[in-house]
Amino acid sequence: MSFFSKIFGKKTAEENSSAVFVNPIHVEFHSHLIFGVDDGCEFIDQSIDLLKGFANLGMTKVITTPHVMSDFYKNSKENVYPLRDQIRKRLVEENIPIQFEAAAEYMIDDGFEKKILDGDMLTFGPEGKHILIELPFMTEPPNLSSCLFELQIAGYKPILAHPERYLYYANDKDKYHELKDRGILFQLNLLSGLGYYSKPVADAANYLVQKELIDLVGSDTHHIKHMQLLPEALQSKTFKKVCEAELLNNYL
Ligand SMILES: [Fe+2]
Repeated sequence: MSFFSKIFGKKTAEENSSAVFVNPIHVEFHSHLIFGVDDGCEFIDQSIDLLKGFANLGMTKVITTPHVMSDFYKNSKENVYPLRDQIRKRLVEENIPIQFEAAAEYMIDDGFEKKILDGDMLTFGPEGKHILIELPFMTEPPNLSSCLFELQIAGYKPILAHPERYLYYANDKDKYHELKDRGILFQLNLLSGLGYYSKPVADAANYLVQKELIDLVGSDTHHIKHMQLLPEALQSKTFKKVCEAELLNNYL
């Protein structure tokens, strides 16, 4: 430690760069671990293996988010909570120190506005008002603006999953800023910065991180391959950079 550091208790930039980076995130909130309900885990043993992986990465709480799509994945509290409870039971039996919650990743589609009106959404966060939403990869849905408006009027706090993966925004970056100006929270996928999805997605991820537009990070883990890549992602330059901002993960 330098003379300056000893007096002021602060590290110089040089000392910081040589220090071992410790992941400050203990809450993981985007994954597909409820078995048999979407394109994530098929069997409970896979769910348990992935949860052991999260515990090994230092996570103390995992909020998993099965897809909800009006035509394809008609998940709701009714089928998700009993499966969550089966997984919780196994976590206790196997002494895996993870607090396990279930919410959802909602696709903004034709049926989404009705879900808002019906209420009873799979939400999370300290007030139960955070909601994870996703968009189609090819084009922005025509009802996005009205859905966001209705969510916010109803008191929800929408988090947009992996904004870097929507290349129609990456190619028109003002759109990112417009969404942020509306109070939409952005969640970066941890694997995006590694180039796992594509180079344009990695570039968009770095743009969002550099512009400090990211509020939370998530793994979007569907299967073991994602888990195997997470240690590398948690030591990547992109992750270290995004952790310079105050992320909301640990607040959830
Ligand atoms: Fe996802």
